[in-house]
Amino acid sequence: MGGLFNEVFGALLGQSALLLVFFATQESRTGGRKVVCLVGLWGGACLFSLSLFWSLILFSLSCFLLCIYLSGQELLPVDQKAVLITGGDSGIGHALSKYLDQLGFTVFAGVLNENGSGAEELRRTCSKRFSVLQMDVTDPQQIKDAYSKVVQKVQNRGLWAVVNNAGILGLPTDGELIPMIHYKRCMDVNFFGAVEVTKAFLPLLRKSKGRLVNISSMAGGVPFLKMAAYGSSKAALTMFSAVMRQELSKWEVKVSNIQPGGFQTSRYLSLRALQCWRKTSWTTSPLTCRRSTAGDYILAQKNVFSKVLTYASSDLSPVLLDIQHAISAKRPFTFYTPGSGAYLWFCLFSFSPTGIFDYFNKKISYFK
Ligand SMILES: NC(=O)c1ccc[n+]([C@@H]2O[C@H](COP(=O)([O-])OP(=O)(O)OC[C@H]3O[C@@H](n4cnc5c(N)ncnc54)[C@H](OP(=O)(O)O)[C@@H]3O)[C@@H](O)[C@H]2O)c1
Ligand SMILES: *[C@@H]1O[C@H](CO)[C@@H](O)[C@H](O)[C@H]1NC(C)=O
Ligand SMILES: *[C@@H]1O[C@H](CO)[C@@H](O)[C@H](O)[C@H]1NC(C)=O
Repeated sequence: MGGLFNEVFGALLGQSALLLVFFATQESRTGGRKVVCLVGLWGGACLFSLSLFWSLILFSLSCFLLCIYLSGQELLPVDQKAVLITGGDSGIGHALSKYLDQLGFTVFAGVLNENGSGAEELRRTCSKRFSVLQMDVTDPQQIKDAYSKVVQKVQNRGLWAVVNNAGILGLPTDGELIPMIHYKRCMDVNFFGAVEVTKAFLPLLRKSKGRLVNISSMAGGVPFLKMAAYGSSKAALTMFSAVMRQELSKWEVKVSNIQPGGFQTSRYLSLRALQCWRKTSWTTSPLTCRRSTAGDYILAQKNVFSKVLTYASSDLSPVLLDIQHAISAKRPFTFYTPGSGAYLWFCLFSFSPTGIFDYFNKKISYFK
């Protein structure tokens, strides 16, 4: 009888430990990979040791870990901290600039075109603290100029965070058909651009013991079809981050990597990629002899691509909240995967055999 009671009670405690950890992940809305692994470990452990003694130990341990975890989730005061965001012309960067400005941060928005409508709108709608900086991330001189302006404006208050957001999608089609120029352009903006901006502003971040946030992509961690150029450049960024995260820890600079799922941004809405398609000179393609076939094939994907857009979410708030967390939390996460299903894709790719992943990827992909 006592044995049964012990087992039931132990199982209950084990379950509560599981639930506690589960709710902690839910509350933060950001799938902390570590916490999810912990749930797995706990689950396994509970199955094996239903004795009261071990369950009690497990239970107190998870309470303890939970306390540590939750205390790290506390947000630091905004206090007009200065934040630099690249690619503020449109999309996520634009929305983030406005959002952080409203929260009271001193925002520097780097833009590709200071005379464009995006920059104009930021100047019109944002507070007095706000500055728009001309900064093409592929132009070293513009980065230097932006740096001087930031230094001049923040003086000794320092720069708290840099958000590497500027990015381009390039031409999404079969890897064989993507012209070299699109591969190079993706690398230039998404990878070398982010590296150069980071190198330029690191001295300021070191001084403030601040935050470095990169907007990578789900496609940089999961091999999606038609994303060879874009995905490779984002994968490079993700790997570089993993190295830098460790190297920068001695300066107490915390780095986070945001890997959003599909969100409808102007890039997708204005179908910039489609304009690319039209502008691309197919004579430079290795498939010149089959030029019209390749051209037809790619144009046929246009409709599929427009359809994909309708599935993307137009509500950017999950991304904005995650970036805010990376900038403000006492202990930010290393990875964030905003967007429905984004984290599931990572798990599927990381933990399932290639055959199974390929099957689902093809099945679910809109491009065949
Ligand atoms: N939307 C998603 O679902 C999604 C998913 C995964 C990852 N991401 C990533 O999130 C970031 C933002 O994407 P988004 O969806 O907001 O796309 P977006 O609307 O195209 O925003 C990208 C921004 O970067 C700017 N930009 C392009 N080239 C630049 C350069 N050389 N220097 C400086 N700025 C440059 C663009 O300026 P213009 O407007 O003037 O071209 C634009 O404002 C990107 O890094 C993207 O890869 C987005
Ligand atoms: C924006 O306009 C100003 C004034 O006309 C000009 O000097 C500057 O070069 C323009 N900037 C860009 C990026 O075109
Ligand atoms: C962000 O990108 C920069 C430049 O590629 C790199 O130095 C840094 O470590 C990256 N950090 C994260 C967390 O992705």
